[in-house]
This record gives sequence, structure tokens and C-alpha cells, in this order.
Amino acid sequence: MKREVILTADGSKTIYIPEMDENYHSTNGALQEALHVFIQNGIRTINFNDEIKVFEMGFGTGLNALLTLVEAVNSEKQINYIGIEAFPVELKLIKEINYESLVNEQFTESFSLMHSLPWSEKHILHPNFTFQKIHLKIQDYQPLNSSVDLIFFDAFGPKVQKEVWTIDVLKKMHDMLKPNGILVTYCAKGQMKRDLKSLGFKVEGLPGPPGKREMTRAVKL
Ligand SMILES: C[S@@+](CC[C@H](N)C(=O)[O-])C[C@H]1O[C@@H](n2cnc3c(N)ncnc32)[C@H](O)[C@@H]1O
Repeated sequence: MKREVILTADGSKTIYIPEMDENYHSTNGALQEALHVFIQNGIRTINFNDEIKVFEMGFGTGLNALLTLVEAVNSEKQINYIGIEAFPVELKLIKEINYESLVNEQFTESFSLMHSLPWSEKHILHPNFTFQKIHLKIQDYQPLNSSVDLIFFDAFGPKVQKEVWTIDVLKKMHDMLKPNGILVTYCAKGQMKRDLKSLGFKVEGLPGPPGKREMTRAVKL
């Protein structure tokens, strides 16, 4: 599948897939979207008494993992990060997208390690941040129930990838979360919100990042 690096409105880059006519992030600002949806309305809403476990559906370019590492270090939070990815991005594009330039250079080596480390193994990238990536389709992943505090649901949109927005996949997310665990996504589609409610989530529509009216935050009751 052909992928192209493009510039978004906040000066950060993203990947465009012509065949799907879909982007990895919002063209209104990749960095702004990731910070707003996953850091501001995700990580920063969690009560940290102890280490928390974050699961990302769609590791992709690693932007969310990088921003979570920065958050863990700067706010002295303890984070155990797991990202699943079925179709890894080529290293050539990761270099071209140059997300290291968005953060302090102390994180450059860790970001490069996120992409070069072997799949499935758990690695300590910083005393505050352990990292593991899994090379699988979410449909084939068998997670432990009640093991995760926060899910970043960052799949391609339901229009182009309806197989990852099914009730079966959303139920897997629900089962994986601990009670009071949180799922955040940039998506605000009515069907998804109804499905999350039917699974036992309390669903909130929050203001979206620049260029999007709404995003979703769901709490497992
Ligand atoms: C919107 S992009 C997310 C990008 C990523 N979070 C980032 O910041 O770059 C969706 C990601 O989900 C991955 N993906 C697509 N189908 C998948 C599946 N069935 N299971 C796991 N990952 C999948 C894609 O390859 C892509 O990297």
C-alpha cells in the first residue's frame, strides 16, 4: 500500500494513504490532535496512584507513544505502554515524518528505539516508561481481562475501516479495561457511541481538536 508524508496545518506531518483517501492524523494539525485527544483528555484525566497501563489500538507512526513518554517523564508519572499494529510503517517514512523535531532532543533515541526494537518484548525506555509493541490485527489479539487503565482507540475512520469498529472489537476493549478504565478516541460517530453505551460504558462527547466539533471519552462502569 502506497503511503505519502504530508504537512498538516500546525506544521507537523502525517501520512496519507491515496488508495484509502485516509490520513493517519487530522490534516488540521497532527500534533494538536494527538495532544488534545490522547494526552489532555486521556492521560491527564487519570488518577495516578501507581503505574498505569495504556493500550494503543494502531501504534502507526508512534506519535501518541512519543507524547505519552514525554508526559510520563515531565510529570513524573509511571506508564506501561502497549501498542498494537497490524501494518507497520516503513522506517524511511518514520525518518521523513521527523516527530523527534517536535520534542526535546532527550527523547530522540527512545523514539528511534520504539521503531527498531523487536516486537512483543517489553523494554524499559525510561525509568518512568516501559514499552511493548505487538504485531497483530486487533481482531486476533487475546488480551487479559481487566488489565488496562486507558485505551487510545486510534484506528482509521469507520468509513474506510469498518472491521475495527465492530461491536466485537469494542467489546474486547471493554473487557480489557479495569473498572473505571477509560477509552478515548478522536471519533464521534453516533453508532460507535451507541455501541459503547450498550457495552456498559458511560459515554461523553467532548469538544474535539481544532477543525473537529467533537471527540469521545468513555468510562467503563
Ligand atoms: C489512524 S492510524 C493511527 C496512527 C497512530 N496512532 C499514529 O499516531 O501514527 C491507524 C493505525 O491502525 C493500524 N491498523 C489498521 N488496521 C489494524 C488492525 N486490524 N489491527 C491493528 N492495527 C491496525 C494502521 O496500520 C495504522 O497504523
